[in-house]
Amino acid sequence: MSYTSFNPPVRTLMGPGPSDVHPRVLTAMARPTIGHLDPAFVAMMEEIKSLLQYAFQTGNALTIPISAPASAGMEACFVNLVEPGEKVIVCINGVFGARMQENIERAGGMAVVVEDAMGTPVSPDKLEDALKKHRDARIVAFVHAETSTGVLSDAKTLAEIARHRDCLTIVDTVTSLGGSPLKVDEWGLDAVFSGSQKCLSCTPGLAPLTLNDRAVDKIKKRKTRVQSWFLDLNLVMGYWGSGKRAYHHTAPINTLYGLHEALAMLQEEGLEHSWARHQHQHLALRTGIEAMGLSFLVKESVRLPQLNAVVMPEGVDEAVLRSRLLNDYNLEIGAGLGALAGKIIRIGLMGYGANMKNVMYCLEALEAVLADMRAPIRTGVAMNAAQSVAVLN
Ligand SMILES: Cc1ncc(COP(=O)(O)O)c(C=O)c1O
Repeated sequence: MSYTSFNPPVRTLMGPGPSDVHPRVLTAMARPTIGHLDPAFVAMMEEIKSLLQYAFQTGNALTIPISAPASAGMEACFVNLVEPGEKVIVCINGVFGARMQENIERAGGMAVVVEDAMGTPVSPDKLEDALKKHRDARIVAFVHAETSTGVLSDAKTLAEIARHRDCLTIVDTVTSLGGSPLKVDEWGLDAVFSGSQKCLSCTPGLAPLTLNDRAVDKIKKRKTRVQSWFLDLNLVMGYWGSGKRAYHHTAPINTLYGLHEALAMLQEEGLEHSWARHQHQHLALRTGIEAMGLSFLVKESVRLPQLNAVVMPEGVDEAVLRSRLLNDYNLEIGAGLGALAGKIIRIGLMGYGANMKNVMYCLEALEAVLADMRAPIRTGVAMNAAQSVAVLN
């Protein structure tokens, strides 16, 4: 068998991630590969650190991208901060909270689960109760933006509660970074990780991470060695730290060019503008979706603008809907996960993809296919309704 180049179809990515990658990012990634200890590359690494500090709104010195997907950022937090036998409170309101529990247990920790229903945010009261009951817990973990449902939890309040009980926080901001307000220092978040492929409009494969001094201090005082060699931050910082750099692993050079470009674009746009743009495009999409007679899983006050979970009308096979959108319109949207499989679709408006063109394209395609599937929707109104929401300047 002989093979030739792979040419992917050109899709519009409006699922839960990866999102559409900005052409500037793809162009940056095609630039010549240089050595990972080349002084020019090292200078660019410093810029990435500083741009990430801006994106996370932090002055933390330990602010770097881990050379692997966001799951590795999650794992880096748990393997470095949790020691065998330690009790960790983990708030679960969706698929990614449950993944955190797995991480705690695999790192030898004891997970105490605080559970909230899918589609609702993490309850500060339940966290408070758990901390009262488990006074020996030293870490609280939660997901800021639950991609499986499209819910935003109140990270500031949860971190305040944790700090009051002398606990560190581990926070998943994979879907929130760049898309929703996130203020690591002001909110007192201790260990925070994210991903490159959502609201940053970069390709998948990098996990931005930031740890404050409280978190670094806990790692320094560990009694046991970090079980993972690759994710041991003491070793990773030998390469990413500010002193003389030593080889740790060969950095994904061109992917880092892409992240640099994505972060520079975020800085050019301005973080606040990016947050407002996501909210605004959500408003346009929401207006169109509701005009069709469809509804959202999550109530507006805690809904993520970048992840829209839309409830499917009775009798509509969402798998058929998604495959028709993909095959006929080159439009990717996401399925429901876990208990929500078959019941919702997830429409992403992330990063570069959070624009009016995508909103209109999605509404048009959704309406056409749903109408053809004889779904009980109102036709001919969604686009005008979305258009009535003024374009953001
Ligand atoms: C909230 C959240 N956490 C973690 C992850 C894992 O990211 P990755 O697939 O890049 O490993 C995702 C991916 O969708 C996510 O949405």
